Amino acid sequence: MVTRQDCDAPISLRVSVTDRCDLQCSYCAPAPASPAAAREGALSFDEIMRFVHMLRRRWPVAQVRLTGGEPLLRPGMETLVTRLAAAGVPDVALTTSGQQLAGRAQRLKDAGLHRVNISLDTLDPVTFAAVTGGASLSRTLEGVAAALRAGLHPVKLNAVVLRGRNDHEIPGLIRFAMEHGCQMRFLELMPIGAAGAGFEERFVPAAEIRSRIDGRFSMTELPVDPRSTSRNFEARDGRGRSAVVGLISPYSEPFCSGCRRLRLTSVGLLFGCLARQEGIPLAPLLRNGSRQGCEALLEAVDQALRMKRENHQFSQPRQMLEIGG
Ligand code: 5AD
Repeated sequence: MVTRQDCDAPISLRVSVTDRCDLQCSYCAPAPASPAAAREGALSFDEIMRFVHMLRRRWPVAQVRLTGGEPLLRPGMETLVTRLAAAGVPDVALTTSGQQLAGRAQRLKDAGLHRVNISLDTLDPVTFAAVTGGASLSRTLEGVAAALRAGLHPVKLNAVVLRGRNDHEIPGLIRFAMEHGCQMRFLELMPIGAAGAGFEERFVPAAEIRSRIDGRFSMTELPVDPRSTSRNFEARDGRGRSAVVGLISPYSEPFCSGCRRLRLTSVGLLFGCLARQEGIPLAPLLRNGSRQGCEALLEAVDQALRMKRENHQFSQPRQMLEIGG
């Protein structure tokens, strides 16, 4: 049931600015033989800003998170960050592979970026190259260091846990976060796009991730933020070092009831839920400056918010990099 209070709860908007990526993760990228994702007709920064302004006329917007693909492959991202910050968006965040971050973190911070989430599935360079289709672990680690230096706090590291691939690295990733002053988040694999094949063999439920942490670290649960997708803990080791560890369980324990996320794809499809197929095409409305266009946009957002269900019902044939992580 959606209550009146839910209707007024702040929205967290994810904007995918490109479906290109500099990683080709085995669970995310389309197989090389599959047709390339549509690259034509990406929304312009003006169109993205028009959507943000329109949304904020009707709903409070707590956060705009820029995603992709890899958002830093879209030229001029600092400009978009500047425009979002200048518009008064309280939290402008970026989800990135980190491959391009070393030379950009300070400029993004200066433009008004508040924080970053960086994908880091493994600390083993060979595994990293194997999972990402040949990318360099050291480049991502340089990106993490640059984000920390620039003060893009909290720097959150995202690891998608894959059975037999990186599940044995959970404690090592937590120790890395403790040593560097990051937060570590473990994501359940979702059966989206390329991750659908072999899903059962690779999926590790959050309860199992938790059991692999218990015993090695003392875990104190932190207060639940109903809007957050993660259950957060303070993990502490025997030497008194600590880090916030988040467990994200969209598959085993869906968090739909408090979810106020909207996703706008790079080509202007609006999704109320990552797991659902139906996207609402907004590009024609965003390209039409009329009053009628604005009312149609508000109606589309209402419709997207109604897409939320009690539970994720994964029926998403699109690739993750089309929808935005
Ligand atoms: N399941 C879970 N997480 C995924 N990501 C990409 N594809 C999947 C999937 N099928 C992650 C990326 C990134 C975040 C935005 O989403 O690794 O960290």
